[in-house]
Amino acid sequence: MLYKAFLRPLLWSLPPELAHALGEWALRRKLLWKLLAPFHNTRDPVLATSLAGIPIPNPLGVAAGSDKDCAYLDSLMNLGFGYAVGGTVTLHPRPGNPRPRLLRRPRQKALVNALGFPSLGIDVVEANLRKQSAVPTVLSISGLTVDEFRRCYQRSAPLARSIELNVSSPNTAGLRVFHDPSAFRELLESVNSRRTTPLFVKIPPYSDPQEQQNVLTLVRIARELGVDGITAANTRPVEEPAVKMGRGGLSGKPLLPDTLRIVADVRNEVGETMTVNACGGISTADDVVKALKGGADTVQIYTALVYEGPGLARRINRDLSRLLRNRSLPTIHHLKP
Ligand SMILES: Cc1cc2nc3c(=O)[nH]c(=O)nc-3n(C[C@H](O)[C@H](O)[C@H](O)COP(=O)(O)O)c2cc1C
Repeated sequence: MLYKAFLRPLLWSLPPELAHALGEWALRRKLLWKLLAPFHNTRDPVLATSLAGIPIPNPLGVAAGSDKDCAYLDSLMNLGFGYAVGGTVTLHPRPGNPRPRLLRRPRQKALVNALGFPSLGIDVVEANLRKQSAVPTVLSISGLTVDEFRRCYQRSAPLARSIELNVSSPNTAGLRVFHDPSAFRELLESVNSRRTTPLFVKIPPYSDPQEQQNVLTLVRIARELGVDGITAANTRPVEEPAVKMGRGGLSGKPLLPDTLRIVADVRNEVGETMTVNACGGISTADDVVKALKGGADTVQIYTALVYEGPGLARRINRDLSRLLRNRSLPTIHHLKP
């Protein structure tokens, strides 16, 4: 209420990247969020589940990009999420694309971003993680070559409980090379040879049968090479003249139908052999139920946090608990088909 009535109008009177920076500043006030944690954390045992074997208190994850440099993961966790995806981090620092590179589409409850991986690099992330109390559940990493990815993986794996490979940002020139099945296979084989923790791959969304076939080929390769899970999906590429690059990645509510369709396709492809995380347009308990029923094990959220504010996870978790009790379902797993 406080967020929507006062803070959001104030933040939204500012350019999006400035508002974003202010939000980050607020999240760095860790003591504040720690004190508010008992209010945000639902801790209802019926919501407890796991992510590729890692126990999590509820199925809501904060998606990659929310804390690119892992500076305030503790605060995000104190908002009541079951897990957080830190990053995307790269081996070396990257400035990202020229500004403006972030835009709100309030009527759609959506954002368009063309950030292009601004990252302070793995050295800073490692230092930041030393100051956090919790080991991140997932760390998202990326690179433009197999060697860069592999070196980033070697540095990142000891820092987190699992790793998500981001080969799907639409805003980074060069990353699409990993949409080619043989390049993708080479990448996975290189990372796999040193693997010690669960591994996820975040796939791009698709909208036509050709793209669908290509992305599902990547999913099949991931399955064949023993990857633990798929996060479906990243932002949808769109034209947007108001950002400097002229195009960016759409996120938020308009993505939900595609997310549900892609999750169902991926589940159909991999059966019960892999974890599936639904990501894109999820903002209510009803959306979570649809995603879980459609084959997801967990969900990941970013844009709804910007629109709904810090009470979002608490609200969704509370509604999920109610729904399970009303239907006399003993655990969240009983929602699944
Ligand atoms: C500002 C912004 C930055 C993002 N940065 C990343 C990123 O670094 N790595 C990544 O894998 N996805 C990134 N994403 C994509 C989100 O993780 C997520 O896949 C996408 O926004 C769809 O989920 P949503 O509709 O809940 O936002 C970013 C999204 C936004 C809006």
